[in-house]
This record gives sequence, C-alpha cells and structure tokens, in this order.
Amino acid sequence: MKTLFFSLFLTFNFLYFSTLSGQNPDPYPPTPSPDRIVLSWVADPGHTQAVSWRTSTDVERAWGEITLADASPDFPNRIDTVVAETRLLQTDLNTAHYHSVNFTGLDPGKMYMYRVGNGIQYSEWFQFKTADKKSQGFSFLYFGDAQNDLKSMWSRAIRQGYSTAPNIDFMLHAGDLINRPTRDNEWGEWFYAGGWIFGMKASIATPGNHEYYSEGDQYLLANHWKPSFAFPENGPEGHEETVYFLDYQNTRFISLNTPMAKSSPASLEAQKAWLDATLRENPNKWTIVTLHHPIYSTAGTRDNPEIREAFQPLFEQYHVDLVLQGHDHTYGRGFNKQYGSGFKDRGPVYVVSVSGPKMYTLNFDPWLDYTASNTQLYQIISVKDNQLVYDAYTVTGDRYDGFILKKQKNGNNRFLDTAPYGQEERIEIPAVYRSRMSPEDIQLYRKKFQTYKDRKK
Ligand SMILES: [Fe+2]
Repeated sequence: MKTLFFSLFLTFNFLYFSTLSGQNPDPYPPTPSPDRIVLSWVADPGHTQAVSWRTSTDVERAWGEITLADASPDFPNRIDTVVAETRLLQTDLNTAHYHSVNFTGLDPGKMYMYRVGNGIQYSEWFQFKTADKKSQGFSFLYFGDAQNDLKSMWSRAIRQGYSTAPNIDFMLHAGDLINRPTRDNEWGEWFYAGGWIFGMKASIATPGNHEYYSEGDQYLLANHWKPSFAFPENGPEGHEETVYFLDYQNTRFISLNTPMAKSSPASLEAQKAWLDATLRENPNKWTIVTLHHPIYSTAGTRDNPEIREAFQPLFEQYHVDLVLQGHDHTYGRGFNKQYGSGFKDRGPVYVVSVSGPKMYTLNFDPWLDYTASNTQLYQIISVKDNQLVYDAYTVTGDRYDGFILKKQKNGNNRFLDTAPYGQEERIEIPAVYRSRMSPEDIQLYRKKFQTYKDRKK
C-alpha cells in the first residue's frame, strides 16, 4: 500500500511539474515594457552615460530621455532624447530586442534622471550621478563570481552590498556573472537579483570563463554580453568590450580578458602589448585592474602561470595599486611575495573574492595574508586624493577584512592592515567538500591552516 501511495505521489508530482513547466518554459520572457535596464560606460564617466535594456521584438524603435534631476515632480521643460541602437538577440528561450543609448554632453558631478521606452511603454525615471572632478572622492562595490543560484542566493550579496553603501558610484563584477552563458534564464536571474540597482549604479564587468562557450573549435563570448552592456572599445582588436580601460576621476580601471588569454597565445600577447601601452600612458594617480583568473590562486591546486608571467611584471613596473579577481570561489588578499613576506610598500594588493554561493577550499599559499572560505562577500572600495580604503563584508553585513593604501610621493603605497583585530578567519570546509574528504584530508587542511597562521605571527 505504501509503495502504491508513493508511486501515485511521484506520478502526481511529475504531471504537476511537467504541466507547470509546459505553461511557463521561459521565466523571464521579453515584453514591450523595458527590462534588464543597466548602466555602463563606453566613454568618459564625467560626461557620458550608457544605458542598455531589453524589450520584445514588438518594439522596433526605442529611445532614452534624459534631463538634470530636480526634486520637483513637475515634468521638466527640457528633456533630451537619444534614439537607441537596437539589435536582435535570439536565445535558447526567446527572441528579443536589446537597445542601447549613450547619453553624451553631460556635466561632471551632477545628478541626472532618465527613462527608456518607445512612446507607449516606458521604464520609471531613474537617477544617476556623473563622475565628479578628479579631486573628489568616489567609491564602488566589487563582487567576485556571482555565477550560481543568482536569484536564490546571489541576490543577497548585491542587495546587502547596496544597503551597506547606497552612496557608491558604481559596481565592478570580476567575471562569471552567470554559469551557463547560452541560457537566457540565468541572465534573467542576474538581472532579477540586481533589479533597479543596475539602473542607478553603473556596472563595470570583466568576462570570466563562464561567459565563454565552445562551438566546434571556436571559443565564443556569450551572445548576451555585448547586447546587454555597453563597454569601451579601446582594447586590442578582437577584444572590444572585454579588454578596456575607463578613467573614473583620478583612477584608471582596466579590464583584462583572461579566458581569451588562456585559450589563445595570440590574445595573451595582444593583451600584454596593449596593457604595457595603457599603463605607460596612464596619467592617473591610482590604477585598479580587474581580471577573472587570479595572478595568485587561493583555491586547491589552481594556478594560472601564463597569466601571471604576462601581466604581473607590468603591474609591478607601472605601480598598479590593486588587482580585483574572481574564479577561485574563496576569499584571499595579499602581495606578490617574491620580495619577501614583510615587503609591503611596493606592488599591487591582490584580492580574490566570491559573492555567489559556489564554494571551494583554500590552499593557504604563502602569498596570502587574509582568507575566507565558504563565505559570500562583497567589497566596498573608496578612493580620495592619496588614500584608498578597502573593506570586505560578508553578505550578512559584517565587516570581515580591510586595509588602507596611502600613496607616497615616490608613487609607492604605504599599506595599513585594518582587518578586524582578533577576528578568527572563516576557513570552514564547504559541505560538498567535507562529504568527499577523508579524515586525513581534513587533518591536512587544518595543518596547512596552522602553518599559514604561524607564518603570520
Ligand atoms: Fe571562473
């Protein structure tokens, strides 16, 4: 009898969920109303602002409207309209129009309001602020890999990050925004998690290996990448919108494309030559690089020697201040230790972080000064004059790590560790690993941690 009930139960469930999925195969279908609205930059953040969005193919001509923001709700007299560039994107679930507008001629340090639409269906009016003068401070949120369970679990990273620092100027995503690049559902979840935050705070993003897929002998960027965002096209040929730089006030931000660099020696060489020129001609006080595959790894036996050998000497040569990375699904920060573990006045600080729920175990390699495993995090980074303040938070809003860089007259940085004093590092083994590890493996992991701790004393 029990077996009969169980089989009936299974059959019912199967039929129920089959029907449900039959009714709704596409959880994020495009409609005439704009969605997936996201700010980014193709050019100077003080005078321009790009916005991209999606509609159903019913909308053939769309535009953006913009005006200086004012606290009065009366409809402003002067609104500039910019017609969008529209392209068709066919995905595994739907066909949609992706629209993009670049607002130009804006004044620095001002708040603007804008909306997007087609005369019938409009978005709400969003507000954003242009980059200010070089002398003013700014701050941004940095996220490591989001990648999995974007709606269910990454949502708390971006929402808590925004709640902790609602006055940030933009966000930086260090690759692997999604897991399977050809699935529209995952892009839908990424946009769902960030919602209207994406319409107010611009995103800078570098592609990870999960933004790439193989087709025959070709290694291809996600079809969603270019229609969804508008990034600069100032990188080497063939790397448009993935390798680029942006100058925000007194800081140069550089995105390098490590998935391409790892898959193609020609790409690695092209990026290296471009990086050399971009750093040599950099007039800014601060330089921050984002790339997906870490120069120094934090997890397991991972290593990216080709990336390190190509880029790390240039980071040292041109005094890059900070390198923001992902890929290793753990948290770590430290220096290039080839100068000795006590050398903290030269070379960038390297950070690996993770914002989504996929977790690995730590390697406790000698370059590391502070770590975490099995912990979702976001980081808030503030830059003003000669000081850069870095703080990492867990997604529950607790400050977890921190440091301050003070730029000296000779261009080197003085480093100040501001991690919460006496705090135990979170080095828990993720459940999925624990179940696979033997008692000896677990003992070895603890021993490695102890060696790492002893080294820091
Ligand atoms: Fe990755």
